[in-house]
Amino acid sequence: MDKILVHGGRRLRGSVKISGSKNSALPILAATLLTKEPCTISRVPDLSDIHYMLTILSELGCEVERASGTVQIRAEKILTHAPYDIVRKMRASVCILGPLLGREHEATVSLPGGCVIGDRPIDLHLRGFEALGAAVKVSGGNVKVLAPHLKGARISLRSNFGSTVLGTGNVMMAAVLAEGVTVIDGAAEEPEVVDLANFLIAMGAKIEGAGTRSITIEGVKELHGAEHEVIPDRIEAGTFLAAGAISGDEVTVSRVIPAHLESVTGLLSKAGFEILSNGSQVTIRPGSKRVALKIDAVPYPGFPTDMQAQMCALMATTEGISVVSDHVFPHRFMHVAEMKRMGADIELQGGTAVIKGVSQLGGAPVMASDLRASAALVLAGLQADGITEVNRVYHIDRGYESIDEKLNELGAEIERVKA
Ligand code: EPZ
Repeated sequence: MDKILVHGGRRLRGSVKISGSKNSALPILAATLLTKEPCTISRVPDLSDIHYMLTILSELGCEVERASGTVQIRAEKILTHAPYDIVRKMRASVCILGPLLGREHEATVSLPGGCVIGDRPIDLHLRGFEALGAAVKVSGGNVKVLAPHLKGARISLRSNFGSTVLGTGNVMMAAVLAEGVTVIDGAAEEPEVVDLANFLIAMGAKIEGAGTRSITIEGVKELHGAEHEVIPDRIEAGTFLAAGAISGDEVTVSRVIPAHLESVTGLLSKAGFEILSNGSQVTIRPGSKRVALKIDAVPYPGFPTDMQAQMCALMATTEGISVVSDHVFPHRFMHVAEMKRMGADIELQGGTAVIKGVSQLGGAPVMASDLRASAALVLAGLQADGITEVNRVYHIDRGYESIDEKLNELGAEIERVKA
C-alpha cells in the first residue's frame, strides 16, 4: 500500500483548480440507468470511488466510455443485481437501488457495510421505496427491492441526524418514473442533491424544490439521454482552504461555487483568516489573530461533517480551547488518536472533541482511516516539525484527485512512496 511522506514547515502559496464533486458524480452516474439513451457526464473526477461506480455500471450491462473527465454511458439492456464484491467496497453504490427500481422495478445490492465513521444504515432509503409500493427483502447480506407498480407517495426522510443525502437521491430516482406525485419531506438540502435533480430534469423528469426540505416529483413515462457537467467539489475546495489556513501565506481555490462554501469560509473567517471571494475563486490569507472555535458539524447549509476532521487539524495548532462536535456522524473522530501521536492535545468526550491548541505538532507515522481523516492528517503534517508518514493512502485517493501533486504545486514537499 502506498504511503505519503509530508515534510512539514513549507509555506503554501498559489492557486489550485478544484475537481468535479465526487458526491455529486456518484449518484448522477447511477441516474444514467434510468434511460436507454446515451448520457454524457463531464467534470467527473478521476477517483477510485468513481472507478468502482463505473465498474458496477459496466457489470450491470452499461456501455461505459471514459475520456479524461468526460464519461459516456448507455444503459440499453441492464441486469438488476450488482456484483457483491465491488458494492461491498463502496457504500455509495447503494444509490443504484433507486434508478434500478424506477426503470426495472427491481434491484438487488449487498447491504453496505459499516465503516470507520460509523454505522451506515439505509433504513430511510428502504422506507422511501416501501412508501412507493416496493417490497423490501434483506437476506444473505443482500437487500432486494421489488415493485411491480411504483405509485407516488408522501415520504419523510427525517432522522435523528438530519436527513439522508444519498437517501434523498435514491428516493428521487425511484419516484421520477412512478405513477403520480411524490413529495419528499425532510429532504437533504445539499448542493449534490440539487445537482442530481438538475440532471434528472435535463433527462425529462419533473422535479421542484430540490435544495429545500420539501421536494415534489411528478412521475413521467420515460426519461431520455442528457448531457451534464458535475458541480465543483466543495469539500475538496474546503480542504485546500484549510491547508492554506494551517500553513499558507495565500492560497486560492479556483473553478468553485463560493455559495456552496459559505459555511466553511464563514468559519475560517471566524477563526481569524481573511477570505476573499471573486467570481469562481476564493482566496484565504492569514489574519491578524487566530481564534479558537466551537464547531458543530450539521447538515447543509450548516458546517459539513466532511470538513470536521480538517478543522480539527487547524484547531490543533490554534491557541486556546476549541470544541468540535459532529451531529451527523457522532463517532467520526478516528483522526484524533493519530493527531495525538503528532503531539495534538485533544480529548474525546462522546461525540465531541475538546482541543487545546499547541504551538507546534511533530511529524510521526500515522494511519489513515477514512477519506477525510486521511486528508486532515496530511494537513496536520504540513504544520508539523519533521516528516509525517501517512499510511494506507488509498483512503485519500478515494476522494481526492492527486492531493499530493496539488499541494506540491502550492509549495508543499510531499512524496508518495509506492509500497
Ligand atoms: C453522503 O453520505 C456523503 N457521501 C458523505 O460523504 C457525507 O458525509 C454524508 O452524505 C453526510 O453529508 C456521498 O454522497 C457519496 P447520509 P450518505 O445518509 O448519504 C443517518 C465523504 O467523505 N442515516 O446523509 O451515506 C446516517 O447514519 C462521505 O465524501 C440513517 O439513519 O450519508 C448519518 O448519521 C463520507 N438512515 C446521517 O443519517 C439512513 O437510511 C447522514 O447520513 C441513512 C442515513
